[in-house]
Amino acid sequence: MILVTGGAGFIGSHTCAALSEQGLPYVVLDNFCNSKPSVLERLARITGQRLTLIEGDVRDGALVSRVLREHGITAVIHFAGLKAVGESVADPLKYYDTNVAGTVTLLSAMRAAGVRTMVFSSSATVYGDPVGSPIREDAALQPTNPYGHSKLMAEQLMADLDRSEPGQWRLARLRYFNPVGAHASGLIGEDPQDVPNNLMPYVAQVAAGTRKELSVFGGDYATADGTGVRDYIHVSDLAEGHVAALRYLQDHAGLLTVNLGTGEPVSVLQMVKAFERASGVPVPYRIVDRRPGDVAAYWADPDTAARLLGWKTSRNVDQMCADVWRWQNGEARRL
Ligand code: NAD
Ligand code: UD1
Repeated sequence: MILVTGGAGFIGSHTCAALSEQGLPYVVLDNFCNSKPSVLERLARITGQRLTLIEGDVRDGALVSRVLREHGITAVIHFAGLKAVGESVADPLKYYDTNVAGTVTLLSAMRAAGVRTMVFSSSATVYGDPVGSPIREDAALQPTNPYGHSKLMAEQLMADLDRSEPGQWRLARLRYFNPVGAHASGLIGEDPQDVPNNLMPYVAQVAAGTRKELSVFGGDYATADGTGVRDYIHVSDLAEGHVAALRYLQDHAGLLTVNLGTGEPVSVLQMVKAFERASGVPVPYRIVDRRPGDVAAYWADPDTAARLLGWKTSRNVDQMCADVWRWQNGEARRL
């Protein structure tokens, strides 16, 4: 039985769908600080299965220990965390508490229960302002904000744990690039509660008429069209990467560190055009000043994941936009 912490969230819910597709059983632990319980009802519609949910906090060691024991957990996929860069600058303790202390609590309970397999949500944010792209896993790690530091600390503690008990742990650090998209059913997707910070949900809201126009942050970067370049990965491809990592850990003890990205650089304006094609409606935009702290361009070298996990992405930008558009217009999002 797999424990999915943060399983009601954006990436967690899609990974639950991927686990069900592979017939792998799991339970979800979530405190709903950034998601809604209705996600799990919609997930149950996708999977045709009744889901086991434990409402609670990953920082609650007694609860986590009980869940590990009572559900016969053998592996954990750890999504529960906070991810808003700006909020992490304003309230760093909150981020270190959830993202670092939460991971310490979880790993301590796992060790006590003899559960030694964990797949962890890291982020390309650990590379900070990269020296060049495509980025390989051995690139310098130099995060530029508390969120990034918290992810790097969690990565570091996994490495130290592996070193302290060689061969005892099976730990994966998955560095996601820019997750976007939604489940093909239109039943689950990204659901920002406030004004979206990220490009894709903002573009979707402009296309839907909820917001007037997109502010494109910077038109004078040293990129092909002057706008920022990223590696957008469909969340369902990302979800399948977690299943591939779990399977890899079944056969390999130790520490795995892989980028999960497409390896394809895409600019802001290319994404806008792709969304217009997918939705059939215009996405008005205006080029404004650069967003402080933004990097001009970065994308993944996805070769390690292909080589070790036998995984690569299969959904392109057009599909990412089509799936977001279906989710944006569907009834499910409003439940
Ligand atoms: P999300 O906010 O949609 O999901 C996180 C889930 O964890 C939510 O359901 C939330 O309620 C839950 N949660 C938060 N703190 C908790 C706690 N203390 N106890 C129990 N549950 C808790 O975010 P997401 O986009 O699905 O991201 C999942 C993970 O991936 C996070 O750790 C995030 O930092 C990491 N990540 C996300 C991105 C991205 O762009 N979405 C990129 C790189 C890494
Ligand atoms: C952001 C986070 C990063 C996180 C990633 C996950 C920051 C500084 N970084 O990165 O830690 O891992 O999301 O997906 O917040 N853009 C616009 N207009 C908008 C929004 C975005 O032009 O309204 C541009 C940005 O300048 C950038 C691109 O779109 O060039 C992507 O932005 P975004 O989706 O916010 O992701 P990142 O900046 O890569």
